[in-house]
Amino acid sequence: MINQISFQYEAWPDDSTLSVADRALLQEARQVTALAYAPYSNFWVGAAARLVSGNIVLGTNQENASYPVGSCAERVLLGHAAVRFPEDPIETLAISYHPKDKSSAVPLYPCGMCRQVLLEHEMRFQRPIRLILSGMSGPVHVVDSAESLLPFAFTGKGLRN
Ligand code: THU
Repeated sequence: MINQISFQYEAWPDDSTLSVADRALLQEARQVTALAYAPYSNFWVGAAARLVSGNIVLGTNQENASYPVGSCAERVLLGHAAVRFPEDPIETLAISYHPKDKSSAVPLYPCGMCRQVLLEHEMRFQRPIRLILSGMSGPVHVVDSAESLLPFAFTGKGLRN
């Protein structure tokens, strides 16, 4: 038997179709790329989350001379949210990026490690995280949950088997 997994995502030519709140959130993600610490890759990533309460939390990638020690913007944001607003789940997360001194116009999707950590947050709070993905301009993708980006994910349920 052959099975298939698929998921839907929205793809818009630019941010003009987003709600005012979503457009503002993406704008925060784009702007906060300026606070990335990325002297090794010169690849500046910004993330902005709107929590269920309406509070906004930000993150940028933080690199290290020992390369694997660095953290992606998404995981910096999640750590920040966990201590600043521990009972307040993420409703929507916008991610943007640009290479140093350049622009970008293609949506960036979270890396595999961040997908796993985003999924943990979804499981913990029993709530999907809506993802808004875009470069500094141009097309915008919207995905309904991190879970859809990680089929057959390993979760706490697997540990209890
Ligand atoms: N990076 C992120 O911050 N988020 C991602 O989803 C992908 C990659 C960062 C890690 C590293 O600092 C730089 O981008 C290049 O990989």
